[in-house]
Amino acid sequence: MRVAVAGASGLIGSALIPELVAAGHQPVSMTRRPRSEGGEVIHWDPATGEIDPNAFENIDAVINLAGRGIADARWSDEQKRDILQSRVRGNRLIAESIARSNRGPKVFIAGSAIGFYGDTSNSAVTESAPSGDDFLSEVCRSLEDAASVASDAGCRVVAARTGIVLSRSGGALAQLLPFFRVGLGGRIGAGRQYWSWISLDDELKSLTHLLDADVSGPVNLVSPCAVTNSEFTRILGHVLRRPTLLPTPKIALWARLGRELTSALLYTSTRVEPAALLSTGFEFTHSDLESALRAILDRPPAQTESRK
Ligand SMILES: NC(=O)c1ccc[n+]([C@@H]2O[C@H](COP(=O)([O-])OP(=O)(O)OC[C@H]3O[C@@H](n4cnc5c(N)ncnc54)[C@H](OP(=O)(O)O)[C@@H]3O)[C@@H](O)[C@H]2O)c1
Repeated sequence: MRVAVAGASGLIGSALIPELVAAGHQPVSMTRRPRSEGGEVIHWDPATGEIDPNAFENIDAVINLAGRGIADARWSDEQKRDILQSRVRGNRLIAESIARSNRGPKVFIAGSAIGFYGDTSNSAVTESAPSGDDFLSEVCRSLEDAASVASDAGCRVVAARTGIVLSRSGGALAQLLPFFRVGLGGRIGAGRQYWSWISLDDELKSLTHLLDADVSGPVNLVSPCAVTNSEFTRILGHVLRRPTLLPTPKIALWARLGRELTSALLYTSTRVEPAALLSTGFEFTHSDLESALRAILDRPPAQTESRK
């Protein structure tokens, strides 16, 4: 397939490009960045609605991983507006472009997140669970609604609700590692909140799998073994052979991330199961956290993860 990837310069997108090539597909990056020499690139800008009207002619599938980073900075009203609008406008622009194209994409995978469900406490939820009522739930609900416009044009639309992606090169694990490596890693709060994670390898494998799988609508991209923050802390400390005795002071997290982002990312309990993905026959490379962390931490980052 010729696969357009929006957000191809990001953590997941940059690693997805070589994965698609290895699977026999032809990826085409979509970016807001200025034109540069070499390689086939689709230029677009969700903020201005700019996209070549013929961008998707002869493209078989689109994967949208673009949007202002959720944890790039403390949340201000402006930051939150941009997080929401960059995703809604991006998906709407892609969906409308798909609907207008003559020989256009038959598959649209819209990057969403398990934040859709809000705080699920101890209850394990699948794709049929309702949306939560916090800011990230609203973001996910709105971006999925915007993407669904493409299904009216006969395109198979999948909302890939991703969990915490584990990679040495970026995201939550990369932020935690410096503290754990010097023995300052510790549980967050009471540590009872669930973290639903997926290794970067399985994230890439599942996105590639969804290009062909007979499924549409929401699909949770998480390992089958969500853990509590206490278990995550203990297992990461064990793999790194470092103590994890002291809880992480809330005040330090607030100072770094602000209260709202700290609460949304680190204290919210999201216990999610990959029911739809398993029903399509997907097989995880890393089902349990210890084997995933060992695989990620035992190899140099550049070997399988192309982001600097
Ligand atoms: N990493 C995780 O743990 C995780 C977990 C759940 C869900 N997700 C979701 O999965 C998607 C990909 O994640 P990621 O970690 O790879 O993201 P990322 O590293 O932050 O990259 C996102 C890409 O989006 C584009 N972008 C940045 N700001 C933008 C804006 N204001 N408007 C439009 N595009 C913008 C950039 O591409 P260009 O500059 O080339 O245009 C960037 O490379 C995101 O939507 C993220 O929310 C990620």
